[in-house]
Amino acid sequence: MTRLYNFGAGPAMLPTAVMERAQQEFLDYNGMGASVIEISHRSKEFDAIIDETDELLIELAKIPSNYKILYVHGGAQMQFSAVPMNLINRLAPRKAAYVESGNFAMLAGKEAARYGDVSIVASSAATNYDRIPGFDMADIDTDSSYLHITSNNTIYGTRWQQFPQSSDIPVVADMTSEFLSRQLDINSFGIIYAGLQKNLGPAGLALVIIREDLLEYAMPETPNLLQYKTYAQKHSLANTNNTFAIYMMNLVLNWLKDQGGVTAIEAQNNAKAAMLYDAIDASSFYLGTAQPEHRSTMNVTFNLANNAVLDDFLSQALAQGLYALKGHRNVGGVRASIYNAMPIQGCQALVDFMLEFERSQA
Ligand SMILES: Cc1ncc(COP(=O)(O)O)c(C=O)c1O
Repeated sequence: MTRLYNFGAGPAMLPTAVMERAQQEFLDYNGMGASVIEISHRSKEFDAIIDETDELLIELAKIPSNYKILYVHGGAQMQFSAVPMNLINRLAPRKAAYVESGNFAMLAGKEAARYGDVSIVASSAATNYDRIPGFDMADIDTDSSYLHITSNNTIYGTRWQQFPQSSDIPVVADMTSEFLSRQLDINSFGIIYAGLQKNLGPAGLALVIIREDLLEYAMPETPNLLQYKTYAQKHSLANTNNTFAIYMMNLVLNWLKDQGGVTAIEAQNNAKAAMLYDAIDASSFYLGTAQPEHRSTMNVTFNLANNAVLDDFLSQALAQGLYALKGHRNVGGVRASIYNAMPIQGCQALVDFMLEFERSQA
């Protein structure tokens, strides 16, 4: 069979080698005569999987020893609730600062407002989130329990190029659509979280990386399975976790290591994104929607100067095996999500198609 080049924003394509390995091992994991989805989360075989997953994350993301790695139920949006429940109580006024750089950032702030006093310290809503809004750390109330950012804005195709630095106010980052796509200094963050369904594995589970000292502030009424401390104390196995998602993430991380790790994938991601942005910038037929200095390497968004041919563009692309290129309804146009698993050949195929389509319309 031929696999499509899947440009969907998530659940997104996973490396073919990972899918093949999962398929090979599916009925009989490690010679056990049972599938990995049929064995106990407390078995020694699953223990080995979760331990190795931790080790791979520590190695690939360079996670310092004062951080805990948690596998938390409910995907990324569940963390929109879990973050305030675990952290807004850090300081008595229960205040948190949010940067609104997109739809998910806005939703995160809205959810947090249930639990305390949320201030939107910067927003790019007025320009339809075509950039990361500028702000000054000095303008944030010093009694804020944390600052929340969305490091890559999946819908709008923007990302933070540099992260806010603060020694007093923990920075919390939703990295769902970019974690492990570029090198970063974990020490700049109090909490990083990411739904698995872009760069890490299947949907429904979130990876949370939290500085140990921040585990102590959960509001007393926080449900046990939303308290990060519960996950930290029980190695994410207080109840039956999504063992299959953790296993799939393990395979993805092993694949990433085989590719040369984050340094190598970052270089590849930069090259892939540059191919597409160069094609957009070289033509007046295509119009990039994100401000160039804020562009994401994971989600490339653009419009066609003549929107009337957008449906033709999408259907002809699909006929050539270029799948799920339709932009999110908030932006329109085209969105090419090119996460770690998208091979450079997929980006080349898209660039070739863009040139051909433009010629056909001349
Ligand atoms: C940046 C970001 N945050 C949050 C979410 C929501 O993730 P979930 O559907 O796992 O709740 C997404 C989903 O695409 C996302 O891109």
